[in-house]
Amino acid sequence: MTTVTIVPMRPRHLDALMHHEHAMFGTEAWTRSSYRAELADTAHRTYVAAEGSDGVLLGWAGVRVLADEAEILTVGVVPEGRRQGTARRLIAALLDAARAGGAADVFLEVRVDNEAARALYESEGFASIGMRPGYYDSGRVDAVVMHREL
Ligand SMILES: CC(C)(COP(=O)(O)OP(=O)(O)OC[C@H]1O[C@@H](n2cnc3c(N)ncnc32)[C@H](O)[C@@H]1OP(=O)(O)O)[C@@H](O)C(=O)NCCC(=O)NCCS
Repeated sequence: MTTVTIVPMRPRHLDALMHHEHAMFGTEAWTRSSYRAELADTAHRTYVAAEGSDGVLLGWAGVRVLADEAEILTVGVVPEGRRQGTARRLIAALLDAARAGGAADVFLEVRVDNEAARALYESEGFASIGMRPGYYDSGRVDAVVMHREL
């Protein structure tokens, strides 16, 4: 099994990240410039990357902290790196950053049809607290809003 290291995400990760972004996130894919803007907002946002022992990008994730509330903005693990606990480690790093930033509650939105992500978040202590109808895919797919305390 590959040794995975969690590191701060940097612009140097974006070439590898953009190679995967559309395949993994489809209509919700972000652009390179939106990632650059996210990484630049170091006052409120923390992004982490998972690297294999050869330095290859295996995953990434980000959180925004505003006052005492945090929001998980994205979590992704490349297909060949999945089911090895990498998303759990990325989320743990985000929760540490949110705690350090003074957050008491963490929220996120996830597609109602994303069973893998919903199972992941439930196993990490998140509970569904509501729905946002038509949040994704131009109104076609609902979001589940999830929450956990820190
Ligand atoms: C969802 C995703 C981030 C999970 O990454 P991962 O590194 O494979 O997740 P982990 O190995 O840390 O899994 C942790 C737990 O999540 C759940 N889980 C993960 N993938 C799952 C799947 N395909 N089906 C069911 N449960 C799953 C399981 O409870 C798992 O624990 P287990 O392996 O001990 O059973 C990954 O599949 C992904 O990037 N998907 C595409 C992008 C995406 O949907 N991101 C989330 C948007 S909100």
